[in-house]
Amino acid sequence: MAEVARIGILTSGGDCAGLNPAIRAVVHRAHGYGWQVIGIRNGTAGLFSRPAECVKLTPEIAGGEMLRRGGTILGSTNKGDPFAFPLADGRLLDRSDEVIEGYRELELGALVVAGGDGSLHILRRLAEKGGIPLVAIPKTIDNDLGLTEISVGHDTAVATATDALDHLQPTAASHSRVMVLEVMGRDAGHIALSAGVAGGADVILIPEIPYRIARVAEKIESLKAAGRNFALVIVAEAVKTEMGEPVLVRHGGGQAGYGGIGHYIAERIGDATGAETRVTVLGHIQRGGMPSARDRIIASAFGVHAVDLIAEGSFDRMVAWRERRVTDVPILDAIRHYQAVDPHGTLARAARGLGICLGD
Ligand code: F6P
Repeated sequence: MAEVARIGILTSGGDCAGLNPAIRAVVHRAHGYGWQVIGIRNGTAGLFSRPAECVKLTPEIAGGEMLRRGGTILGSTNKGDPFAFPLADGRLLDRSDEVIEGYRELELGALVVAGGDGSLHILRRLAEKGGIPLVAIPKTIDNDLGLTEISVGHDTAVATATDALDHLQPTAASHSRVMVLEVMGRDAGHIALSAGVAGGADVILIPEIPYRIARVAEKIESLKAAGRNFALVIVAEAVKTEMGEPVLVRHGGGQAGYGGIGHYIAERIGDATGAETRVTVLGHIQRGGMPSARDRIIASAFGVHAVDLIAEGSFDRMVAWRERRVTDVPILDAIRHYQAVDPHGTLARAARGLGICLGD
C-alpha cells in the first residue's frame, strides 16, 4: 500500500448534485486507511491564496446529511484556467506554478478531483507539470465524458428536467398550448433525450440530430388532427437555428454561454402551425437540486474507489461506471472519447419507436 498521510480533494467546473456524497465517500474511505483529508476551496482558485484556502474534512463534518445536500461544500469554479488566467486588462497569464506551489505547501500525498472534461484536462496538465499524484471522479450533468456510462450529477439533472415536463403537461393541456422546455447539456443532448423519453415529450431536439421546423410542425399538426390539444417539446441548449447558427446569451460579468434556442423554436412553431406557445428555460435548477438516489449511489461508489486507487498507488486514473460496476480508466482516454448522443443508439431508437419526433 502507498505511504500516504493525507490527501486533498477539490471540486472543479460547474457544480452538480452528487458532489457532496462523493466528498463524503472520499473522507470516510480515507479515514478507514488512517489518512487525513484536506478539502481545497473553490477548485484550483483556492490554491492561489497563501495559505491555500482549505478545510480539514473529518467523518463528523462529512456526515450523512451530505448525501442530501446539493452543490459542493467546497465551492467550485468553471473559470480561471491557471494556464491562461484572465487578467483585468484582458491578457492571459500562466499562473500554473502558483497553483502547484499552493498544492505543495499542503504536503499532500495525492489529490482527488471531481470534474468534467475541461477541469480534468487542466488538472491533468497541472499534475504532469507539478508531479501531483492525481485521481479523478467524473462529474457533469451533461454526461459527455467518455469511458464512463454515467457521471455524477447527470441523473439528478434528468430527474429535474423530467419533473419540469410533468409540471408543464397539465398547464399545456389546460390552455391548449405547445410548451417548449429548454434544458442544459452543453454540446451534448443527453439530458434532453433522456428527460424527453421519461417525461413523454412529443418532440425532442438535440444537437446531434439536425432538424427541420417543417418536420416539427408536421408532428404538432398530426397530434392536433388526432384530437390532442397540446404538445410538449424539449430542446437542448446547444441546438442551432435552422440556418446553423448557435444561440448564445451574454451573462452578467461578460461570459457568454448557450441560451435562447427555446424561444427561437417556439416562435418558429407558432409561425408554422399557428399554435400558442410558451417557453421555459430550466437553467441552473438542473444543477442545484437534492441528489437523486442514483447520484448518491454512484458518487459514493466512485469516492471509495478513488481512494482505493490512491492506496494502490494508481494515479492519472479516472473512476468510471461500466457494465454495472465501478472501474477506472486513464484520465486522458476519458477526455479524448467525448461522449455525444449516438443518433442510432438505444435511447434515440426508443424515442423514435415511441413516435417521438426528433426533428429529422
Ligand atoms: O457543463 C455544465 C453546464 O451546466 C452546462 O450544461 C451549461 O451549459 C453550463 O454548465 C452553464 O455554465 P455556467 O454555470 O457558467 O452558466
